[in-house]
Amino acid sequence: MQHRSLFEPTSLGAITLKNRIVMPPLTRQRSGQPGDVATPLMASYYQQRASAGLIISEGTQIEPRGQGYAWTPGIYNQRQIDGWRTVTDAVHAAGGVIFAQLWHVGRVSHHALQPDQAAPVAPSPIAADKAKAFIETAPGSGTLVQPSMPRQLSVEEIKALVELYAQAARNALSAGFDGVEIHAANGYLVNQFISTHANQRTDEYGGSLANRLRFLREVVQAMSAVVGPQRVGVRFSPLFSSTDEDRVYIGFVEEDPHQTYIEAIRVLEEQGIGYLSIAEADWANAPDLPEAFRREVRDTFSGRILYAGLYTAERAARLVESGLADLVAFGRPFVANPDLPQRIAQGWPLNPLNAEGLYGGGVQGFTDYPRYSPASQVG
Ligand SMILES: Cc1cc2nc3c(=O)[nH]c(=O)nc-3n(C[C@H](O)[C@H](O)[C@H](O)COP(=O)(O)O)c2cc1C
Repeated sequence: MQHRSLFEPTSLGAITLKNRIVMPPLTRQRSGQPGDVATPLMASYYQQRASAGLIISEGTQIEPRGQGYAWTPGIYNQRQIDGWRTVTDAVHAAGGVIFAQLWHVGRVSHHALQPDQAAPVAPSPIAADKAKAFIETAPGSGTLVQPSMPRQLSVEEIKALVELYAQAARNALSAGFDGVEIHAANGYLVNQFISTHANQRTDEYGGSLANRLRFLREVVQAMSAVVGPQRVGVRFSPLFSSTDEDRVYIGFVEEDPHQTYIEAIRVLEEQGIGYLSIAEADWANAPDLPEAFRREVRDTFSGRILYAGLYTAERAARLVESGLADLVAFGRPFVANPDLPQRIAQGWPLNPLNAEGLYGGGVQGFTDYPRYSPASQVG
């Protein structure tokens, strides 16, 4: 077997993960319309990938205002819970473990996606001018658009949002998920509160770093109270510099990213949550995470640590063997290879990614990627 360290089982709270290979959250925009409900086709897609040690669902909005892209699934009503139940049942039947990524886009949205065509909500009325939202223009087709100018949330509304996260966690459990991940990365709502670029509040949710981490702390606390801290993960995207200004929206470059994220990780450690997921910059010439940061992350957080972003099996195995990570996620490789763990173990070649089927559509580029067989290999 190749890269043996990736195949040592490990634990996540009371759950046993059969290997260290994770399928990270991957938005595919194929929920059933109308209503943004997970479908039987999505159940097949996730079931095909159940040999991952852990699957984290695509970003799933906790409420209607939390949506920034057409056709992403929700988890805030009974139909959506029932839709997800078909997915979790299929994954469990195949021996998999699946967490739900709970998502609120905050300001990265557009009037057309919002209830009553209202302005999106955010910590401060500052437009996400480097990000894009995606709206439907006709059934099954749509276009990227500039996000709308958001309006500032009141303190009462922030408290109500914390409760919406807790309710979404309750819904995730009743849909059969094994746990929940808070999407606090990539410039979305929780990340907006953390960042001085999007948060210019002067109340207890803005200003000092402690205040900017308050929303994160309250959401983690509320969700931990519902599902138990060991069934909670948090995803961050600490960026240390930008080689490509247009990609900065993926996660803001803070004035002091090291201090900002180590403090944020202390919040998670205080609550004793199950895992920390770090989404690294994943584009060409992306800035690397400093080694000193990775070491301090390990020293600060005692739960499971997961990294993602342009990993090959070789790099992933080295990171696990170094002791700095417990788990490594493979995004695009899992899109194109339902049997990725077996391919890694056997050293089999990988299917190439078909970028056309990534967002929206049906079977094509979704459930039609073949498992490995010697006959299917061309050239
Ligand atoms: C099609 C696509 C959709 C994604 N959707 C999400 C998402 O919903 N939530 C999230 O946190 N990250 C999302 N990501 C980021 C991935 O989880 C992962 O961090 C990224 O693809 C880097 O890993 P890779 O280089 O192995 O693909 C997405 C990435 C891709 C390619």
